[in-house]
Amino acid sequence: MMETLLLLLLFCSVSSSVRHSLKYLITASTGLPTVPIFMAVMLVNDLQSCYCSSNKTLEVKHDAWKQLFDDTKLWDWVKEQCFDILPDLYKSRLHRFMQHFNQSTGVHVLQVMRGSEWDNKTGEVSGFMKCGYDGEDLMTLNLTTKTWIPLKGQADIIKKQWDADTGSNNERVNFITQIYPQWLKMYLSYGNKSLLKPVPPSVSLLQKSPSSPVRCHATGFYPERATMFWSKDGEELHEDVDHGEILPNHDGSFQMRVDLMNISSVKPEDWRRYDCVFQFSGVKVIITKLNEAVIRTNLVSPSQVPAGAVVGVVVGLMLLSACITGVFIWRKKNNNVDIRQTDHRSRDIRRDVL
Ligand SMILES: *[C@@H]1O[C@H](CO)[C@@H](O)[C@H](O)[C@H]1NC(C)=O
Ligand SMILES: *[C@@H]1O[C@H](CO)[C@@H](O)[C@H](O)[C@H]1NC(C)=O
Ligand SMILES: *[C@@H]1O[C@H](CO)[C@@H](O)[C@H](O)[C@H]1NC(C)=O
Ligand SMILES: *[C@@H]1O[C@H](CO)[C@@H](O)[C@H](O)[C@H]1NC(C)=O
Ligand SMILES: *[C@@H]1O[C@H](CO)[C@@H](O)[C@H](O)[C@H]1NC(C)=O
Ligand SMILES: *[C@@H]1O[C@H](CO)[C@@H](O)[C@H](O)[C@H]1NC(C)=O
Repeated sequence: MMETLLLLLLFCSVSSSVRHSLKYLITASTGLPTVPIFMAVMLVNDLQSCYCSSNKTLEVKHDAWKQLFDDTKLWDWVKEQCFDILPDLYKSRLHRFMQHFNQSTGVHVLQVMRGSEWDNKTGEVSGFMKCGYDGEDLMTLNLTTKTWIPLKGQADIIKKQWDADTGSNNERVNFITQIYPQWLKMYLSYGNKSLLKPVPPSVSLLQKSPSSPVRCHATGFYPERATMFWSKDGEELHEDVDHGEILPNHDGSFQMRVDLMNISSVKPEDWRRYDCVFQFSGVKVIITKLNEAVIRTNLVSPSQVPAGAVVGVVVGLMLLSACITGVFIWRKKNNNVDIRQTDHRSRDIRRDVL
C-alpha cells in the first residue's frame, strides 16, 4: 500500500526552463506510528523547498528561501499552521473519509496535491488539484466547471458533497489559477539563478558480475526533464535495453538508470562502440563510453536507492508545508495593499485547503 501511495505522490512532474511550477502536497494519516499525522511539502520547479509536519518539524531548504522566510517573518505563522491548525482540520477530514468507507480502525492516508504551472514566455497558466485516499486517486477538480470528477465509484457521494459547497470550489480554483502563480513568481525571485539552474548528474557504470547487464546510472541531476539511453556506433539502441523510471533523491535532485542487457554476447573489442548517453533539458549531453576499466561492480548502493517508497515519503513530506508558507507570504507581501482581503484569504485556505 505504501508503494502505491508513494506513486501517487510522484504523479506530478513536468518542468523545464521556461515552464515554472509551484506544487503542494498534503498527507494526513492515521495508524502509522512512525509517520506524523500531518505532513506538507512545497516544490518550486520540482525542487523541494519546504517541509513541515505535525511532529513539530519545519525545514526550509536553501538559503534563498530561508532568507524569504526571514524577510517575511514567516516562521512562526507556518509553525502555527502546520503544527496545530491544519493537523486538526485534516484529522477531521480523514475521519470523515473513514466513516464514508465504513472504516473505524487501521492505516488510512488522505493525500491532496495541487499546484500551478506558469510559462514565463507565453504567460499561460495551468493547474490541477487531486485528492487521493489510501493510495488511490479519488477525485480531481475540473478547473473549468469548478466541479469534482470522481475517479472511482465510491467517490460519487464525496464529489456531490464537495460540489454542494460551491464557495470552496470557487476558492480552490482561484488559488490555483490566480494566487499560486503570484506566489510562484515570488519564490522564483528569491530562489537565485544558481539554485534553479540545471544541475548535471554524475554518471556511473555498474555491473554485478561479468555476465550481468551493465547499468548506466545517473544521479544528482535537476530538473527531472532528462532522457538516457545506450547507443552503438552513435545510434540509439532500442533492443536489449531496460529503462528505469526517473526517481527523486532526498535532496531534490533526481536519478535514473538504463541497463544494457546482454553484454556478455558483445565481443571485448566491440565494447568501445557502445555509449551511455544522458541528455539533459533537451540540450546538454553527457556521454559515457562502455569501458571495463570504469565499471564499478558493487551494485548494492544503486539498487537500494530505488526504494521509491522511502524516497517518496520524503518528497511527500516536503510538499506539505508549501501550502502553508504560500499563504503567509501572500499576506505579508500584500500588507500594504489590502490586509483585510488577504487575511480573509488565509482563513479560507485553512478551511479550504483540501
Ligand atoms: C524564463 O525562465 C528562464 C529560466 O529561469 C530564463 O532563462 C528566461 O530568461 C525566462 N524568460 C523570460 C521571458 O522571462
Ligand atoms: C517526532 O520527532 C522526534 C524528534 O523531534 C522523533 O524522535 C520522533 O520519532 C518523531 N515522531 C514521528 C512520529 O515522526
Ligand atoms: C457503508 O455501510 C453502509 C451500511 O451498511 C452501506 O450502505 C454503504 O454502502 C457502505 N459504504 C461503503 C463505501 O462500503
Ligand atoms: C472540464 O470540463 C470541461 C467542460 O465540461 C471539459 O471540456 C473538460 O474536458 C473537462 N476537463 C477535464 C480534465 O475533465
Ligand atoms: C544561490 O544559491 C546557492 C544554493 O543555495 C548558493 O550556494 C549560492 O551562494 C547562492 N548565490 C547567491 C548569489 O546568493
Ligand atoms: C543480444 O543478443 C542477441 C543474440 O544473442 C544479439 O543478436 C544482439 O545483438 C545482442 N545485443 C546486444 C546489445 O549485444
